[in-house]
Amino acid sequence: MLDLWYKSAVIYCVDVEIFMDGNGDGIGDFEGLSGRIDYLAGLGINCIWLMPFYPTPNRDNGYDVTDYYSVDPRLGTLGDFVEFMRKAANHGIRVIVDLVINHTSTEHPWFKAACQDKNSKYHDYYVWSEEKPADAEEGIIFPGYQESTWTYSEEAGAYYFHRFYEHQADLNIGNPQLREELYKIMGFWLELGVSGFRVDAAPFLIELKGIEHTADEEDPYQYLGDIREFLSWRRGDAIILAEANVSLDKLPKYFGDGDRMQMLFGFIVNQQLMLSLARESAAPLIKGLKALPQIPNTGQWAQFVRNHDELSLDKLSESEQTEILSAFDQNKEDVWIYDRGLRRRFPPLVDGDPRRMRLAYSLMFSLPGTPVLLSGEEIGMGDDLSQKQREAIRTPMQWSSEPNGGFSTAASDQLIRPVIDEGQYGYTELNVLSQRRDPDSLLNWMERLIRMRKECSEFGWGQWEIIETDNPSVFAHRCDWQGKTVVAVHNLAKDPCSVTLPLSQEGDRSTHWLDLLADQRYQSIRQSESPIELEGYGYRWLRISHSKEPE
Ligand code: NOJ
Ligand code: CA
Repeated sequence: MLDLWYKSAVIYCVDVEIFMDGNGDGIGDFEGLSGRIDYLAGLGINCIWLMPFYPTPNRDNGYDVTDYYSVDPRLGTLGDFVEFMRKAANHGIRVIVDLVINHTSTEHPWFKAACQDKNSKYHDYYVWSEEKPADAEEGIIFPGYQESTWTYSEEAGAYYFHRFYEHQADLNIGNPQLREELYKIMGFWLELGVSGFRVDAAPFLIELKGIEHTADEEDPYQYLGDIREFLSWRRGDAIILAEANVSLDKLPKYFGDGDRMQMLFGFIVNQQLMLSLARESAAPLIKGLKALPQIPNTGQWAQFVRNHDELSLDKLSESEQTEILSAFDQNKEDVWIYDRGLRRRFPPLVDGDPRRMRLAYSLMFSLPGTPVLLSGEEIGMGDDLSQKQREAIRTPMQWSSEPNGGFSTAASDQLIRPVIDEGQYGYTELNVLSQRRDPDSLLNWMERLIRMRKECSEFGWGQWEIIETDNPSVFAHRCDWQGKTVVAVHNLAKDPCSVTLPLSQEGDRSTHWLDLLADQRYQSIRQSESPIELEGYGYRWLRISHSKEPE
């Protein structure tokens, strides 16, 4: 059987600079992260996704790279990286790293050389125009913070294209020399032991805007196949997890026939999940899941509640967006960003209600695919709206009630970003250490959730099917794999309810229900026809097995 390890993975996303400061200078680093691998192993995750840790002027949280072959000196050295990799491997934890090759920082030596000399080989690494293109104000990714997609370089005497901020110049993937360089970057990190890449901004990477005379003009998606081919030649079990928040019709192109990206984030399902949670109705989530295309056997969705960016609601209608804002009682002025999303973590949306938080994570962990956690989610961290843009949700990890939340021994004003120190999400109230000591904490619950998820391969590997119920607030689905079945039932509403699932037509066999995970102890289910009780915001994971009726 194919070793599709990523179908059994629980991925944990780490931003090194805010995770743990090992040398006391106020900035998280590899030394600090390495010291916390035991913690992560104990939590049960088995794959770390490292956000960009490369040298950078850090004007977009490291998504503005100046050297692809090194480690940001603030975070450590390549030696520290290798030590970290070894320690992770010793704990059976794989590592995937962010690959930011749609653009470089404008401070990257390639871009500097490109501007200085039009005859330099680096000039054609980027996308240029003598005149400002007429559509320069269209397709802006950060409205309110970005004015154009073409900016004039005095030095080069031409406009360069940048899909994102003006300090992030887009690379020209039409240039074969550049492509070779990008393969070399992948090869480099693969040699250092990574199990794959989270490919940043995949739809823009393959965008041919401003690029002329390219061999792949016909089918830019083919480039994804080329990347995959290179990856698989170098390391057979390596994967690509692509960030592609695109419309439904485009999704299949990213998977190809199993010869392109193995994993894609479930952006559409995430947005419908948010609408379902806001509306306390299963319908949006059902709609989102039903709309998904069939994907190849080797393909997989990466499911998440929140990521390190804004909570994008761009695929919802304006009235649905407004509905979410008002259901979660959010003041648009404080939280709405880039005309499409919320710069908030999840717990503040539900006012830290433990039932609703657990409901959301129980759902996410049981949806078909592989769960991805953002660090801090396991303890229910909040956000700091006084920080600019998305930095609101990028505050340092809260380890303990010690100064700076145990993140760093530096003076507080030396920290890369302030730790949340007030209110219900402040580090004295909310931190890893105190949650470790409390058996009912979110952290301990999350550990149990992860353990159970790993014991239910059906969710990651199986065929899934939505089970129709007579209660619009209840989302029920089953996953079948290798003759085994798990069923998950979630009550999205605040009132308790009971539902009967139409699972009894299993011929002459009787069905046994085994409770695997639930928000509380429930009466066990004796017969398929028995109603399934659910508390308000309650959930139950059940394994069903069949045995022949005695003759
Ligand atoms: C997507 C990343 O998640 C985001 O943080 C970044 O700003 C853009 N890509 C540009 O790299
Ligand atoms: Ca440090």
